[in-house]
Amino acid sequence: MKPIKIGLIGLGTVGGGVVEILKAHHDDIVRHAGVDLQLVRAADTNEARFAQLGLGPDVATTDGFAVIADPEVDVVVELVGGTGIAHKMVIEALKAGKSVVTANKALLATHGEEIFALADARGLDIRFEAAVGGGIPILGPLTHSTTANEFSRVLGIVNGTTNYMLTRMTEAGLDFDTALKEAQDLGYAEADPTADVDGYDAAAKIAILASMVFNSRVTLNDVPTQGIRELAPADIAYAAEIGYTVKLLALANKTDSGIDIRVHPTMIPAKHQLASVDGVYNAIYLTGDFVGDLMFFGEGAGAGAAASAVVGDIVEAARTLGGGTDAIGCTCTDNLPIRALDDLVCRYYFRLIVADRAGVIAAVARVLADHRVSMQSLIQRGTTADGMAEVVYVTHAAREGDIQAALAEIRELDVVSSVASLIRVEDLA
Ligand code: HSE
Repeated sequence: MKPIKIGLIGLGTVGGGVVEILKAHHDDIVRHAGVDLQLVRAADTNEARFAQLGLGPDVATTDGFAVIADPEVDVVVELVGGTGIAHKMVIEALKAGKSVVTANKALLATHGEEIFALADARGLDIRFEAAVGGGIPILGPLTHSTTANEFSRVLGIVNGTTNYMLTRMTEAGLDFDTALKEAQDLGYAEADPTADVDGYDAAAKIAILASMVFNSRVTLNDVPTQGIRELAPADIAYAAEIGYTVKLLALANKTDSGIDIRVHPTMIPAKHQLASVDGVYNAIYLTGDFVGDLMFFGEGAGAGAAASAVVGDIVEAARTLGGGTDAIGCTCTDNLPIRALDDLVCRYYFRLIVADRAGVIAAVARVLADHRVSMQSLIQRGTTADGMAEVVYVTHAAREGDIQAALAEIRELDVVSSVASLIRVEDLA
């Protein structure tokens, strides 16, 4: 059996997991998958990682481009992340005729078109199962077992860090900062957690999923994105009271007027399967015309889960080396427009801090009616020492543009102190 030579760039958490799996399961992979994977080069700028991972000087280098240029290397694994040097590395690896495995969602959601076109033109594999949903096998099934279907929607919980935080905020009433500190201590959140908590990680993932599911290019910039930074424990508690759970949902629906795609905190029915996806777990939910509803579930963050998906891709890339490719990707033939967020129609929850006196609810109701927003329910709780009350509204289905215009006017009413929150409600029927 001819060994397949692997060059690995990036020895962070996931890269370390890949080294560990390639060592621990080398013989099993030979037996079960029929490929002999040899890690021949590994690069990182942090030299301490070489000793930590038992990589000798014949394998280790601080220069990622040396891995790509090494004529021995058959498959380049890019685990550097980001859209800077990683972009150059992936392009250079493909130009050098190497198959590429990457977990880099931001790169593919931004420069996917260029990268897939180059891989196609050269007949090379570019595999990226670990870019979406950590260890969950989702991209493979999308390009194999489910291709008989037209999909009308894909949605899910695709960020483990924020799902862990929301779970703790829901179950233990933690505030955002305490939940984030816990997630960081457990190694889920990055030291700079912006991509996780502000929703960009989830936005890149839903852009990749939507592109594949709808066969139409969607990029990161197409995704209206709102993270969980502004989410207050009070809203999570009100949600529970009315039978809902708050999740950071990434959604894409195929509509008559184009792709409706977005990432934001969402109230979903507490009884829906996605509401019970807790902790660092992710779940991706799809609706196809023949297969019906599907849900894929598993660990969405952490070294082991992502490394498992990367090694799976390495095995597939090794199997197809020199013999054509069945690499996953987006044919993106359909060129569907992206629908403006203002045209979204859904139910909305919002919380106001108002003066507790006669006529306040009527004044708010008048503005809502002027903007064609119909109220479904209202909760008013207590009065604070300074005479203010908290009022929670849930609307019937309304247009986003109308609700935003109404709230802008409500904010200006002199009886309204603040619009404390606005959360979209999805019944996921
Ligand atoms: N940071 C991501 C998450 C994992 O928390 O889900 C990598 O995409």
